[in-house]
Amino acid sequence: MIKNIKEISNPILRAVIAGIFLGSLVTIPAALAVELAKSPKDSNVESTSKLAVYASLASTAIGAAIGLGAGKRKDERDRLPDDTLGNDSVEVESSNNGWTDWRKFIVMRKVKESDGITSFYLHPEDNGAIPDFSPGQFLTLKLDIPGQLKPVIRTYSLSDYDLSAMNYRLSIKREAAPTNLNVLPGIASNFMHDSIQEDSIIWVKPPAGKFVLDVYSSKPAVLISNGVGITPMIAMAKAVVRFNPLRQIWFLHGARDGNAHAFRDEINALSASHSNLHVIYCYSRPTATDTGKYHQQGYVDSALIQNIVAPEMQKLCGSTEADYFLCGSPSFMDALRNGLREWGVPDRNVNFESFAKAMPKTTTPVRDLPTENTDSQEIVFSKSGKTLTWNPADGTLLDFAEANGLNPDYSCRAGVCGTCMCKISEGEVEYEEEPSASVDPGSVLICISKPKTARVVLDL
Ligand SMILES: Cc1cc2nc3c(=O)[nH]c(=O)nc-3n(C[C@H](O)[C@H](O)[C@H](O)COP(=O)(O)OP(=O)(O)OC[C@H]3O[C@@H](n4cnc5c(N)ncnc54)[C@H](O)[C@@H]3O)c2cc1C
Ligand code: FES
Repeated sequence: MIKNIKEISNPILRAVIAGIFLGSLVTIPAALAVELAKSPKDSNVESTSKLAVYASLASTAIGAAIGLGAGKRKDERDRLPDDTLGNDSVEVESSNNGWTDWRKFIVMRKVKESDGITSFYLHPEDNGAIPDFSPGQFLTLKLDIPGQLKPVIRTYSLSDYDLSAMNYRLSIKREAAPTNLNVLPGIASNFMHDSIQEDSIIWVKPPAGKFVLDVYSSKPAVLISNGVGITPMIAMAKAVVRFNPLRQIWFLHGARDGNAHAFRDEINALSASHSNLHVIYCYSRPTATDTGKYHQQGYVDSALIQNIVAPEMQKLCGSTEADYFLCGSPSFMDALRNGLREWGVPDRNVNFESFAKAMPKTTTPVRDLPTENTDSQEIVFSKSGKTLTWNPADGTLLDFAEANGLNPDYSCRAGVCGTCMCKISEGEVEYEEEPSASVDPGSVLICISKPKTARVVLDL
């Protein structure tokens, strides 16, 4: 019975049923006791009755409290990473409770975090459980934006790791138009800031992504971000301090100034209560009011890691071998990856995620795969009934499809999110860079691929 009560997901219902269950366990014997106590002495009956009523009330209250507590533990357990439950597998999409496609979520809270970044707390409209995720993963959103031909799909990292919460948190930066170009500002991010309010409903796909931190590793971790790249780092830092408090972590973050720096108080509070979390903030253009809020003026770079982090790490851990996690602007990550490589950090220890398209292609290039025909290839978009000739100047298959009037789904255009995945029924493609997203057998990511064989048939 207790096991069944634990399985009830609604906390109120769970508390009521547990209360009735424990209350009746005590009330029935108490009623019998009152019957047996009936004697010519009325005072005996009266005091036994009072005792029975108090015992029934107390047991009902205790039952309700146990019901709530049992549920909380279940909810937390539902959201723990698989490996905390004694399963060594790092399969990160294994416990989505049947949620595989779009699901409606309500925006419960909208909180301004800095000049450009706002957080959105999302709760499933069906009130069901939300699955666990690995720190570093993202959610995919589908937004109906007025003026757009079709729903706009974008991915956003989960920016919190609070197992007792019933919400996911995303933190989104408003993307301005580049100053040197006469183009529109970011479509989805501006829509989220301007038009999505508390109680708005948006479509969400389950947590995904391979930019994840192994919470239980004992190797020190260095989390390095700038701007909105801080989002996956918060989840990573929170997961480690919660589940692996002996692991040393350095949290290095770069911002323009104090107004642009999101989550400073949240990370400072985490660091103040966990001695294994070491924080360094660098402001590139601090203002007069920023004194005391940052540690260094300038950028987070490999010199900072060599001169400040490495000696501390050597002292605390007896080694400077660490796992590095980078997330930020393309130029920032490019500089750091090159700096770490020059310093001798092996590529296998450096994990990175780009939010923007212009990620340098420095790892595992697969450009030199032989192609059957480098001049022109036939592409069949089978659903649209179009057979077209592709030339190298046409770019990726996604660029080519768009240039020919097709409108495939995409988000990152960098092989990270999996949104552009499409079935291929004939031929092969070659990738410009190794995809970071999982690719289903018989499918390809068209945003980073070009035809490899003379004829390619895509389900578009
Ligand atoms: C795995 C992953 C996780 C992410 N996590 C986060 C996160 O936690 N928080 C976050 O804020 N973002 C995150 N992003 C980025 C996010 O998915 C979006 O890319 C971002 O919000 C911009 O989308 P948008 O629709 O607002 O901008 P878009 O409309 O896609 O435009 C992007 C930029 O291009 C400019 N632009 C428009 N047209 C042109 C043109 N013709 N030529 C040149 N430039 C042009 C726009 O002005 C804008 O600056 C993540 C991305 C990935 C891949
Ligand atoms: S659009 Fe993200 S993987 Fe292709």
